Amino acid sequence: MNTLLKDKIVSTFLKIHKSQPLVVFSPGRLNLIGEHTDYNEGYVFPAAIDMGMITAIEKSDTNYCSILAYDKKEEYQLDLKEIKPITNGGWRNYIIGVIGEMQKKGIELTPFNIVFGGDIPGGAGLSSSAALENSIVFGLNELFQLGLSKKEMIFISQKAEHNYVGVKCGIMDQYASMFGIEDHFLLLDCRTIESKAYRIDLKGYELLLINTNVKHNLSDSAYNNRRAVCENVSTLLNKRALRDITEKELLALKDKISDDDYQKALYVIQEIKRTQKAAEAIKSGDILKLGQLIYQSHFGLQHQYKVSCDELNFLVDIAKEKNVVVGSRMMGGGFGGCTINLIEKDQINIFSSVVTKAYKKKFNNECSIYQVKLSNGTHLVT
Ligand code: GLA
Repeated sequence: MNTLLKDKIVSTFLKIHKSQPLVVFSPGRLNLIGEHTDYNEGYVFPAAIDMGMITAIEKSDTNYCSILAYDKKEEYQLDLKEIKPITNGGWRNYIIGVIGEMQKKGIELTPFNIVFGGDIPGGAGLSSSAALENSIVFGLNELFQLGLSKKEMIFISQKAEHNYVGVKCGIMDQYASMFGIEDHFLLLDCRTIESKAYRIDLKGYELLLINTNVKHNLSDSAYNNRRAVCENVSTLLNKRALRDITEKELLALKDKISDDDYQKALYVIQEIKRTQKAAEAIKSGDILKLGQLIYQSHFGLQHQYKVSCDELNFLVDIAKEKNVVVGSRMMGGGFGGCTINLIEKDQINIFSSVVTKAYKKKFNNECSIYQVKLSNGTHLVT
């Protein structure tokens, strides 16, 4: 967690509200492999990272809530009796959504004040939105001593996104952000919502995130559209989710659906398998095998599921050219954000400078490079 930012947020809160707030840190996440598998009840392999959202919160003695987005210097005053999504509301809808979903559960809140800010670049695909949602629900749970479990909280966060932001996301981001464990990845079964923690010895390798610094704006509708395709295919095969369908069973449907939809469903079925294989590779310490699976995942996301973009493909192609990167792929929903790279530790500096120059030359734009630590999930900060 960025302690400097935390201190700034707390001192801003004290200055405005003259009372000591509760402070929550909620991390963003990365995902090793298992992309677009969560809403198909498959497996994902995320970890919480040391970048995230810091929320300072305390009860208010007025009859409205004051919410300050520290990074944007935007303030919003909210009446708890009038909770509904705002058109083009941006960050406001994540917070309104969490409150709205809590109210739907019959939870009665009284006014509170919030100052929040974070160090996850927007659009990086590192789940700043899940981090924000989780920090709000967690903070409210503490503040009002509501006794919600972590699982109840992540479903509130997820529904906020479905019903107030309009993205029909799976549970991966909220889960990883809430349940993260320092130095561990979580192999999450998105049907049972139970995970197994893996402390991975990457041997002479390291994870490197490279941000394209682009976010193409069709991403939300494309996301919902992919989800609908998956649900349609499983309905046609009378199954609960793509998780329950084999490649052979899907083949029976090949002539009845478009080739595009067939490829999308095939990708998901294969990616669920790849994620399980990745867990086996990790168990046997086979980093090169893990890397191959990561490259295959990108191939599927680019050509079958079609959620990549030129900038992401360019970064993966460069990685592939240099044999110091044993695995590289786009991460998260797609259409921008970061790639995740498994790279030889002592080659990081040279590779970073090669990539930075090449990216600038090709797109006349900067890419950003992050080395992150795997961190604990949402928690109170003392
Ligand atoms: C976004 C969603 C997640 C997941 C990923 C793709 O991050 O919020 O639920 O579906 O995309 O794997």
